[in-house]
Amino acid sequence: MAHDIRKATAAGLAIGLATLTFAANDAFAEDFRLGLITPPNHIWTQNAEAFARAVEEATDGRHTVSVFPAQQLGNEAQMLQQMQTGALDMSFMTVAEVSNRAPEFGAFYAPFLVDDIEEAAEVLRSDEARSMLATLPQKVGVVGVGFGAAGLRQIVARDDIDSAGDLAGSKIRITPFQPIKDFYEALGTAPTPMPLSDVYDALANGQVDAIDMDLELIWQLGYTDHARTMLLSNHMMFPMLGLVSGRTWQALSEEDRAIISDLMAQAVDDCIRDYLEKEAQFLAEVEKSDIAIREVDAAFFRDAVDAWNAIWEPKAPNLAALRAIAAD
Ligand code: BEZ
Repeated sequence: MAHDIRKATAAGLAIGLATLTFAANDAFAEDFRLGLITPPNHIWTQNAEAFARAVEEATDGRHTVSVFPAQQLGNEAQMLQQMQTGALDMSFMTVAEVSNRAPEFGAFYAPFLVDDIEEAAEVLRSDEARSMLATLPQKVGVVGVGFGAAGLRQIVARDDIDSAGDLAGSKIRITPFQPIKDFYEALGTAPTPMPLSDVYDALANGQVDAIDMDLELIWQLGYTDHARTMLLSNHMMFPMLGLVSGRTWQALSEEDRAIISDLMAQAVDDCIRDYLEKEAQFLAEVEKSDIAIREVDAAFFRDAVDAWNAIWEPKAPNLAALRAIAAD
């Protein structure tokens, strides 16, 4: 007979807030909750929905996954906290947020670590990257099943930008995490941490002078409406992780762990596949707007890159190995 799994907590089972019920064979059925910050039509959200369908199919409906996009369950810091307590089961989350708690993940944000999305894919699919997941349960309280990605980062500015000096003193929207803050500080700008949901208005009303963003969202969310210049810099990669709450993980059978980790690893890797396929299309869409596109490389930012390396090389021991993979 089915019963509420919450009765089992007394027996030492760690569970989330979702309703769990045991079936007769002791395999519990659950509607897992998966949160992410990206909008419904974003590649991450689409692959999260595909993951949800795959879990339902693979478990013959025993498990389902409800996907909550667009920060419905809070920002990433809040979602990570919920995953630590078991209030949230799963997430597709930026490595940015994870690096706030496990600084070695800052290695992925070395400016110009990769030249293009193909190199980003190689780095993220490497054994070296995978090996970094091992410390997450202990350090962060989550299980990392695999890497995904978004597109490479660009800078969209309200004004004309001809040199790095033109950015000095500007307020530049960043995703809230330390490695990117260090980069923009080294560039002499005022990095302004801001969640995705606030970026359009902030750029439109001049609260920020420029934003750090990828091509997909620059096009999809219409940031070109309020900007004159895009620096096509590809200055950083933007990895993502498929995460399961450590508490949810503990409550899963071995069989369910295998199903969920395999399917989630596939879904986040499918995000990498999609950017490999679509990054050039996203650029083509941005090119249709009135924005001036200025292609720049590491030399444009040189002093800031050197300064970033000086801060992060000691903090990110895997950086040399990731550089070797990218250079291969
Ligand atoms: C951002 O904060 O810029 C961002 C977050 C998730 C996916 C893509 C971009």
